[in-house]
Amino acid sequence: MRKLNQALLASALSLSVLSCGNVQEEASYQVIPLPQEVSLSQAAPFKLTKGTPIVYPEGNALLQRNAEFLADYINQATGYKPEMKAVAPDSKNNGAIALALDSSITNKEGYVLKTTADGICISGQTENGVFYGIQTLRKAIPAEAKGADIVLPAVEIKDEPRFGYRGMHLDVSRHFFPIEFIKEYIDLLALHNMNTFHWHLTDDQGWRIEIKKYPKLTEVGSQRKCTVIGHNSGKYDDTPYGGFYTQEQAREIVKYAQERYITVIPEVDLPGHMLAALAAYPEFGCTGGPYEVSPTWGIFDDVLCVGNEETMQFLEDVMDEIIDIFPSKYVHIGGDESPRTRWEKCPKCQARIKAEGLKADKKHSAEDRLQSYCMTRIEKHLNEKGRQIIGWDEILEGDVAPNATVMSWRGSAGGIKAAQMGHNVVMTPNTFCYFDYYQTDQTQDEPDAIGGYLPVEKVYSFEPTAELNEEQAKHILGAQANLWTEYIPSTQQVEYMILPRMAALAEVQWTQPEKKDYQQFTQRLVKLMKLYQRDGRNYAKHVFDLKANFAPNAEKKSVTATLSTIDNAPIYYTLDGSTPTASSQAYSAPVEINQSADFRAVAIRPEGSSKLVEKKISFNKATFCSIELPDVKPAPKYTYAGAITLVDGMKGTDSYSNGAWLGFIDGDVTAVIDLGQATNIQRVATDALVDMGSWIAGCTGLTVSVSADNKNFRQVASQDFPADTDFTKKQVENYEVTFEPTEARYVKVVIKRTPALPKGHAGEGKTPYLFIDEIEVE
Ligand code: ACM
Ligand code: ZN
Repeated sequence: MRKLNQALLASALSLSVLSCGNVQEEASYQVIPLPQEVSLSQAAPFKLTKGTPIVYPEGNALLQRNAEFLADYINQATGYKPEMKAVAPDSKNNGAIALALDSSITNKEGYVLKTTADGICISGQTENGVFYGIQTLRKAIPAEAKGADIVLPAVEIKDEPRFGYRGMHLDVSRHFFPIEFIKEYIDLLALHNMNTFHWHLTDDQGWRIEIKKYPKLTEVGSQRKCTVIGHNSGKYDDTPYGGFYTQEQAREIVKYAQERYITVIPEVDLPGHMLAALAAYPEFGCTGGPYEVSPTWGIFDDVLCVGNEETMQFLEDVMDEIIDIFPSKYVHIGGDESPRTRWEKCPKCQARIKAEGLKADKKHSAEDRLQSYCMTRIEKHLNEKGRQIIGWDEILEGDVAPNATVMSWRGSAGGIKAAQMGHNVVMTPNTFCYFDYYQTDQTQDEPDAIGGYLPVEKVYSFEPTAELNEEQAKHILGAQANLWTEYIPSTQQVEYMILPRMAALAEVQWTQPEKKDYQQFTQRLVKLMKLYQRDGRNYAKHVFDLKANFAPNAEKKSVTATLSTIDNAPIYYTLDGSTPTASSQAYSAPVEINQSADFRAVAIRPEGSSKLVEKKISFNKATFCSIELPDVKPAPKYTYAGAITLVDGMKGTDSYSNGAWLGFIDGDVTAVIDLGQATNIQRVATDALVDMGSWIAGCTGLTVSVSADNKNFRQVASQDFPADTDFTKKQVENYEVTFEPTEARYVKVVIKRTPALPKGHAGEGKTPYLFIDEIEVE
């Protein structure tokens, strides 16, 4: 008996020690997206413990489900799961997290989150608004706080989204992702306060949604016999590839999304990007085929035959099943990248053009109007069933379907034009919102991507209503990022491409622009990344990279290196090519480099060193001399700092779009360099970037002439180089000529381009780009 008492006493003691000394973690409302108003107070905080219940008004099934979400979120962070209780609407809820409706809140997605010592109350005009308050609370709690009590500072948060449309798109045609992952993708949307999932279900490389009236769409159209390797390299992987969602699975996704206040907008891309459907039903094409589900990427001439009434019937039938599965107000009907080639030759299409009186004018061909006819017909069909269409900005070419919402992807121009015409617009410009682009310019360490350069900071800087007046801006429903998956074969890589760029987008979509601040955002991002980490997400970490800018200064004849990190980690550098360590020179201000150097820098954090930044700066006789390009100029998009780039002591590496290369669309390039005084020279060289997949070919000749007066030039060397024939080539090439030592003040270099892409290349016969950098004179 005594023994037992002692044991009881001991266990009671240790419990009380545990409860007084329990680990405490502090919550922070510095979340992403940043709420519009966060009023912290010095009043006592609320302590969330194992015993804290979540209460909701009895009879409200939606708030009950919200309570379940919140209980799960708290469980993921703390390991304990709060009890959930239905309570009478006017009950006092001391010590609880209470969910409630409040009709005085004006925005249907808005919420108020109030924390006092007595409890937390999240209220919304609707359950939807409460859901976003829950997202804020879950992100405020530390991601990993196993068993801990959470101290939540007293606060009143008043929040609502800036835009009503906050989307993410996913292409499941180029690569297919299982239903379980689609749910995870939707979970990620919810985490980032997004409300629209744009599901790109059909394309040339696979039809991914069951249509009962046309079973071959999935039997045939969802399977391709193999997949091209890399960027249409001409080599194939020999592995059949396929997959589709049954209607039942798609409905399950719709429901799963709906529970999280997310609308699924399906896309059936028409009349182009239809090879998968044509492979299944060749009679709907202009030529009758045969067609195959495409194993390569691109834009294909074989599109639907709009002249064939049976094709139109097919589309209407498909739409009828689509709208039966997807209750969304909007249906996306594509409209992008649909060549007119087949229609020009097709008797049926020409007959339709005649019968409908479709006429060419200065801006649009009759075939452009045939596309408009197709879009408008499908729009009419959907409008009759109470739905609205969205189309890519190509639908502005011709007569825009009258009630269409335009999704602007080729930059923002289409969206601006559509808004000016009074159409509603969703902004998804590739310049800010294409998450299939590289997120760093150090592409050699990256999984292969389509190209481009879209770092987190650039996504964050996006302003969807830029260039619009107030009236036009009202037509901008919101913004969305698109994830095309040609080069994204796995779910892990999907995560890598969207995280954390999605966090930057979330703040563009939700937070008022005057509240946005990139530096502060990155601090908040560190916190959100802990949640990604806990959930095992494969997120990209480039934001922690050492940021380096190397600016040429012609007057000082130097390069200024400016370095930074988002968290002000200590930075160390060397100039002699050795690896910097914590005992190297510490970086405190921009470094002026005025002679050849092999510059290296790292940020050193307790967890380890950042990726090394390396820049070779190499001075030659032409470096920082005056340079002119008297004939052809670089394309505006690839001009950057201009001609000085060619003599700034820094050589471009393998990304053509990071400012280190000048890109020329046409003509041979002439550069005249003034060495400042008569100088003895015997070698001239230049680099060119060859990236055949991106239609960038090398240099085919160098001619060098010299002059004392910049008028009379004497040729000293001329040499041709073979044009590239390997379609997969992606590397920097150096081209040089040497000659008898000669005196020169002015050096004229003519760099010959590759006149045409080689036979068999996707752009066969077309003129490739020429990207050059760093002309060296020795
Ligand atoms: C698109 O990127 N083709 C809409
Ligand atoms: Zn046709």
